[in-house]
Amino acid sequence: ENGSSTTTKRVLLLKPRGFCAGVVRAIDIVRIALETFGAPIYVRKEIVHNSYVVNDLAKKGAIFVNELDEVPEGARVIYSAHGVSPAVRQRAKDRGLKVVDATCPLVTKVHVEAIKFARQGYSLVLVGHRDHEEVEGTQGEAPEVTQVVSTVEEVEALVVPDPNKVAYLTQTTLSLDEAKYMIDALKKKFPNIVGPHAQDICYATENRQTAVKNVAHGADVVLVVGSRNSSNSNRLVEVSQNLGTNSYLIDKAEDIQPEWLEDAKTVAVTAGASAPEVLVQEVVGYLQTRGYGSVDEVEVMPENVRFGLPPEIVQAIASAP
Ligand code: F3S
Repeated sequence: ENGSSTTTKRVLLLKPRGFCAGVVRAIDIVRIALETFGAPIYVRKEIVHNSYVVNDLAKKGAIFVNELDEVPEGARVIYSAHGVSPAVRQRAKDRGLKVVDATCPLVTKVHVEAIKFARQGYSLVLVGHRDHEEVEGTQGEAPEVTQVVSTVEEVEALVVPDPNKVAYLTQTTLSLDEAKYMIDALKKKFPNIVGPHAQDICYATENRQTAVKNVAHGADVVLVVGSRNSSNSNRLVEVSQNLGTNSYLIDKAEDIQPEWLEDAKTVAVTAGASAPEVLVQEVVGYLQTRGYGSVDEVEVMPENVRFGLPPEIVQAIASAP
């Protein structure tokens, strides 16, 4: 007996994890569009930020393009879950494209707020990552009056025509702590700033972060399944690291470096909102081959959100033979 038998290596599988309702809906839209209209179907940008999902749909006949000028006149194009600006919608009209909109309803909520505030004469401050497609789309609703900020320094440097007529919005996939910090800085600079009725960070972002917060202290490593360009997945890694627990973003099981697991007794596994469960199960399978014998699912809160399909798709299903 050397004591090692008492140190069982285990996996904690966080719940909720993985696909959110907006991602399920966006993938369903592409799948159903391929089945009812037939290939090719064009998709502007990655439908969701996950390479496995994109490759899988490409195999089924979806053609991913960066901009609408790559889509032939009159063809059918799907907008990604991250949303588009009015300028993109106009370009689609000009080119006679048939549009299917897979924008997540919770992104649309932020667009509606942007339009409302801009109409009421507010200067808009959008907290988020400048180069993210969602931010480009939201900013595009009122580009002349919207400024994007991602640091407190940028908040302090803001210049607006009327400091008493400022509204803020945020990206849906920020870190809750980071967003609070930024909003506090905005309130300090503009004491009369107004914001959305309900926070713009979506339920899926919040729930996955809360689950990591609840479990990170009891884990030696947190593995987050998700792609490099997935905002909410990167935030999950940060949440864990901020709590002092090593955390790594992996696209798939093969990305795990054996040295990450040295001395790690308890490995927590979660997944970003665009990462499919099959990849999570591969990670768990890999850990089991490395001696992590027990796998416990830790459900931090229930989650039962579903979104309906857009009218273009509902009609297509109804009129399919
Ligand atoms: Fe929508 Fe949030 Fe998912 S904004 S696409 S429910 S991560």
